Amino acid sequence: MSATSTIDPARLASVIEAEEATFNERHKHSREMTERARRSLAGGVASSWQDTEPHPIYLAEGHGSKVIDVDGNEYVDFHNGYGAMAVGHAHPRIAEVVSERVRLGTHFAQPTEDSIAVAEHLQKRFGLPLWRFGNSGTESTLDAVRLARAYTGRDVLFKIEGSYHGHHDALMVSVAPPADKIGPYDDPVSVPQTLGLPADYVKLTRVVPFNDLEALERTLNRYKGQVAGMIVEPAMMNAGFVLPEEGYLQGVKDLLHEHGALLVFDEVKTGATLSYGGAVEAFGVTPDLLCLAKSVGGGLPCGAIGGTDEVMGWIADGKIDQVGTFNGNPLTMAAMHATLTEILVPDAYTEFSRLGEILREGCDGVIESNGLAGYTTVLGARGAVTYRAERVRNYRDYLEVSDQLAYVNWLAQFNRGVFMAPWGKSENWTLSVQHSEEDVRRYVDNFEYLGKALSA
Ligand SMILES: Cc1ncc(COP(=O)(O)O)c(C=O)c1O
Repeated sequence: MSATSTIDPARLASVIEAEEATFNERHKHSREMTERARRSLAGGVASSWQDTEPHPIYLAEGHGSKVIDVDGNEYVDFHNGYGAMAVGHAHPRIAEVVSERVRLGTHFAQPTEDSIAVAEHLQKRFGLPLWRFGNSGTESTLDAVRLARAYTGRDVLFKIEGSYHGHHDALMVSVAPPADKIGPYDDPVSVPQTLGLPADYVKLTRVVPFNDLEALERTLNRYKGQVAGMIVEPAMMNAGFVLPEEGYLQGVKDLLHEHGALLVFDEVKTGATLSYGGAVEAFGVTPDLLCLAKSVGGGLPCGAIGGTDEVMGWIADGKIDQVGTFNGNPLTMAAMHATLTEILVPDAYTEFSRLGEILREGCDGVIESNGLAGYTTVLGARGAVTYRAERVRNYRDYLEVSDQLAYVNWLAQFNRGVFMAPWGKSENWTLSVQHSEEDVRRYVDNFEYLGKALSA
């Protein structure tokens, strides 16, 4: 980890300018499509998370570790659909099982045998006995926090400042709040992420900093007897990549239980990417409720919640409805079954670790030799370079990460054939089982090029 950045700001500005010019030259058709799309799609995109500067890149195809954009540029994909494609693109086995299922009927709104097989697998993989399915990460976290409220008979939810858990009203709070709105560290303000959230809902969602058990204890005491539960992304994956400190997650669980509240893990991004058993295995803590989506579905829309017999029993007993026309959809179940039992198998994680180590060593070497302030974090299929000298522990530290270095790396990678997720410093990379050593070396080589350009 380099202590301070020795990069000249004027040099950085001129490298950004040159990279932006190259970027613009390479995306003529994407720019045209953006203009066309704005006449029929609000903002030119299907989701606001796709509406990014300088403009969205329209993709045409994905094969293995690569994607091809509408201008014919080919990239190694480090974005991987916001971390949903750990199987890689057009995986032959996914293509096969989905094609077979399409010919047998894609939707009944009745259970199929695959849904039992997937639930049985999740039971063993994540150590929780009862499961239900949905269609997105948002549905998973919505169902989980509703269940926590129902089970405890309490209304207040806790979440981590700077974490994203999907777009429903209860949790669109303090997702990426601006520094001038967050209030004191000891008593953070609950900041609505979007207009349209009822003020009363926002008030019911209280935020605490990540990696701070004392702050959690103080806040639990402040809301004594009112807290239904806390949703935690076991490693923060929408503020770069922030790992939990030793003992933090177990401490959270113990404190919540002392206060009669439940622990919900949002493993939408970490599940089946950090390790075979997700964060549960990586950090050795099993929550009361666990939310999955993204990579477990092999590229199809998916979601799942798992939980203890006591808590999930409230669904089983019909005390609370967990519903959805497409829940347990046969197409998703077929893809999920093949993904979990045939593709994201233990050997895949050995290879993720090997490739991750090449990235970590390579990027840290570039940081060191070029006087950049930062460090690399990798775990399983995930990783990120964080542009701050000291390790980020929570959202307030993350606000100090250099936007400009994250942006210039994003441009430099794009211009040299690596597709990264938009939103600069907030995102991380996801490898797939189809990524090769050559693919990850491309990222390191581009980073080295950038390091030299910045320090020249
Ligand atoms: C941690 C986390 N939880 C939940 C969600 C919501 O998932 P979805 O976009 O599938 O609704 C996301 C999406 O990025 C996420 O990163």
